[in-house]
Amino acid sequence: RTVYVNGDYLPENEAHVSVFDRGFLFADGVYEVTTVLDGRLVDFGNHMARLHRSLGELDMTLATDDNELLAIHRELVQRNGVDQGLVYLQVTRGAADRDFVYPATGTPATLVLFTQHKPLLDAPAARDGLRVVSLPDLRWNRRDIKTVQLLYPSMAKMEAKRRGADDAWLIEGGQVTEGSSSNAWLLDHEDTLVTRALSHSILPGITRSAVMAFAEEQGMRVEERGFTIDEAKAARAAFVTSATSFVTPVVEIDGQPIGDGRPLPAITRLRERFIEESR
Ligand code: PDD
Repeated sequence: RTVYVNGDYLPENEAHVSVFDRGFLFADGVYEVTTVLDGRLVDFGNHMARLHRSLGELDMTLATDDNELLAIHRELVQRNGVDQGLVYLQVTRGAADRDFVYPATGTPATLVLFTQHKPLLDAPAARDGLRVVSLPDLRWNRRDIKTVQLLYPSMAKMEAKRRGADDAWLIEGGQVTEGSSSNAWLLDHEDTLVTRALSHSILPGITRSAVMAFAEEQGMRVEERGFTIDEAKAARAAFVTSATSFVTPVVEIDGQPIGDGRPLPAITRLRERFIEESR
C-alpha cells in the first residue's frame, strides 16, 4: 500500500513519523475519514470544512490547501486501487521537544494519509443490525473536535464486545450522546427521526447532517433533541450514522430488542436511498 507523509508518497513500510511527534506523545492531532464509493470520494468538501474547524479550535495550522488535499486523496485512491473503503487523514502539531506548551509557530504540522479497502455496501451489520450496550460517556467535553484521542471510545467498544454486543452507546446526564464512533438516532412512534442537537457533547457528523437533509427532502420529520436510553429502547427503530456505515440499524439495546428485533424496513430503505444519493 502506498501512503502519504509530509509531501511524499511511500510504500507503507518506508513511511516514518518522529518519536517526538506531538500526535504520538500528546494525542495532539485531528483526523478525518472520507468514504470511497465506486472509487469516488463522498462529501469531500464537508469533511475538509470540519477538518479546518477542528484545526482552528486547537490553534493548529496546515500549509496544505484543500485543492492539494483533494489531489492527495485522489492519488492514493488511484494508486491503491480503492473501489470501496476510506481515506484516513491525520494532522498533528508536528515534532518538538516534549513540552505541554505548544512548540513555536512555524513548527510544521505532520500530515499523514492512507487508504483502507472495506466492503461498505455489503456490511453484515446493514442486514442484521447492531446490538449495542449503554455505557457512561467518559470522554472529554470537546467531542465536537475530531481529535485522535480515541482511547475511551476504544475501551467502550471493547467493553461492548466483552458483553457480547457490537458497539456502545454513550450516556451523559441521563441522555444518549452518541455511539463510540457514530451518531445515534431513533425513529419515534409519530414517525419522527430524532437525533441529539449539536453542541460540545457530540461530533457534528457529516453523515448526520447529510441524512438529516436527505430525510427532510423525502418528507420525513427530523427533530434535534436529546433522548434517554429508555426512550430508544421503546422506539419504533434505532440506528447510527457515520461516513463508513452510512445508516445502520440498531436492533438491540442492553439486551432488549427494538421493535421486533429486526431492522425496520423503513430504516433499511432510508439507508439504501441515502447510499444511492451519495454515489
Ligand atoms: N467516526 N461520532 C463520533 C464519535 C465519531 O467518531 C464519528 C465518526 C461520527 C460520525 O461522523 P461522520 O458521519 O462524519 O463519519 C460521530 C469515524 C468514521 C471514525 O472514527 O472512524
